[in-house]
Amino acid sequence: MSKTPKSFGRKSIRASLLPQSLMDETPDLVNVWQARVITLFPNAFPGVLGESLTGRALQEGKWQLHTHDLRHHGLTKHRNVDDTPSGGGAGMVLRADVVGAAIEDAKARQRGNAPIVYMSPRGRPFTQAMARDWAGSDGVTILCGRFEGVDERVLEHYNVTEVSLGDFVMTGGEIAAQAMIDATVRLLPGVLGNAESAVEESHSNGLLEHPQYTRPAEWQGRAIPDVLMSGNHAKIAQWRQEMSEALTQARRPDLWQKHLDKKG
Ligand SMILES: C[S@@+](CC[C@H](N)C(=O)[O-])C[C@H]1O[C@@H](n2cnc3c(N)ncnc32)[C@H](O)[C@@H]1O
Repeated sequence: MSKTPKSFGRKSIRASLLPQSLMDETPDLVNVWQARVITLFPNAFPGVLGESLTGRALQEGKWQLHTHDLRHHGLTKHRNVDDTPSGGGAGMVLRADVVGAAIEDAKARQRGNAPIVYMSPRGRPFTQAMARDWAGSDGVTILCGRFEGVDERVLEHYNVTEVSLGDFVMTGGEIAAQAMIDATVRLLPGVLGNAESAVEESHSNGLLEHPQYTRPAEWQGRAIPDVLMSGNHAKIAQWRQEMSEALTQARRPDLWQKHLDKKG
């Protein structure tokens, strides 16, 4: 008989309380952009949003993040949140009454004008323009799905917009929510320092960004393009514009066509 304990090989993972404490239900800060996330996995937040620029901005109160645990609205003593799909089929569906109660709770706490969105592979693809819109509102309330998704009626009832991170299927909406919040928060005033401008980035003007270089001047026999070392700012700007256009044309014919249409 093996003496190996049952727990052998299992990792004991204990989430740090430190990043979570960034999101404590602190009093609402006046005029501060708020993300409210409805999720079965509140411990997944702030996740990567607690790091670097977004993390510092969160700590400095330049934006706020609150999670709403879907399980708190679960039914019976088991706090059930899901049920089998009507009409049969694999998997489980998040119940409208449970999700509805969580949305009501988030809505009651959300300030001002904030869209309610559902992370969904069926949704409109997330874009920089959407990030700009969200950054211009008072916040966003994000519903993260799990299993086979959410009962359709709750999406209709609350006029929820479905937004997709891309044409692939993930296990849940939490990673998509973090990606979209990150893209939005960095557009809020005062989050990016002068050194990290969002003005010339990919997608800010409909084009992909030009290539970037830094020291050393030569690496593995490859030199930095001469123009970037010339100190001639007009020539550098022209080179960057040309590279940006060439890259967009080669990699994203869809964006290139839009750019040409805009130019008329
Ligand atoms: C396994 S998926 C459900 C997929 C769903 N049955 C379908 O076919 O459209 C579980 C959850 O992950 C999230 N999710 C999966 N892929 C996503 C994507 N590309 N963008 C945003 N959210 C996604 C959604 O919240 C979804 O409810």
